[in-house]
Amino acid sequence: MKIVMLGAPGAGKGTQAKMIASKYHIPHISTGDIFRANIKEGTELGNKAKGYMDQGLLVPDELVVDLVVDRLTWDDAKEGYVLDGFPRTIPQAEALTKALAEKNEVLDHAINIEIPDQNIIERMGGRRACVACGATYHIVNIPPQIEGKCDKCGAELILRDDDKPETVRKRLEVYHDQTQPLIDYYGNEGVLKEVDGTVDMADVFAAICNILDA
Ligand code: AP5
Ligand code: MG
Repeated sequence: MKIVMLGAPGAGKGTQAKMIASKYHIPHISTGDIFRANIKEGTELGNKAKGYMDQGLLVPDELVVDLVVDRLTWDDAKEGYVLDGFPRTIPQAEALTKALAEKNEVLDHAINIEIPDQNIIERMGGRRACVACGATYHIVNIPPQIEGKCDKCGAELILRDDDKPETVRKRLEVYHDQTQPLIDYYGNEGVLKEVDGTVDMADVFAAICNILDA
């Protein structure tokens, strides 16, 4: 099963992609997580990506496309994958379509999580991420058992640099401008499915499972 998650920053793509990956035994491939891991390790890719990410801008397509196309050739991706945060521009979507076509493969579902900007601004300010394992929490909706500490590994929880309010506004602007057109792109390809992202995350997941199991 090959799935692309669509939706604004903070729509819940990562939250849902992790649950999909675990239930359907496919890898969760998040370009945001890949960049954050590279930044943490201080790689050349990480150093290049950081400047864009901290400003709420997209990393240039040429730094993203080859990385993802290569990742899709790994052994664990043979039976499918859930892509989170990629594609994010029309050229990235075209590159994915081409890479799939070269292997006689097609995308099964592009799942768009719909949510108004105002809900997103409220959500992002409350999100906390683990510095060590990347697990995410929300200070109101999904609080950790001990304030400021990750339930899974005990490391410190932080507000991501790009979750600061000014940067969130910029990310939403970039989303509407460059990523929202993918909804029509995948609509035209006949694989677009929409779910309401404003409800409880278990209900969002139930709606997604209905689509995947249909
Ligand atoms: P990336 O990491 O992909 O960030 P994003 O798309 O902005 O998405 P987020 O991770 O912020 O949100 P999400 O939809 O995953 O929501 P989450 O599940 O965490 O990318 C970061 C940056 O990297 C980009 O800005 C760009 O610079 C660069 N980049 C990455 N990919 C790129 C690409 N392909 N091309 C170019 N540049 C690229 O949920 C958010 C919060 O809400 C959490 O606190 C969560 O707990 C909570 N929550 C989730 N669901 C619910 C619910 N139903 N109800 C209540 N709370 C909920
Ligand atoms: Mg995410």
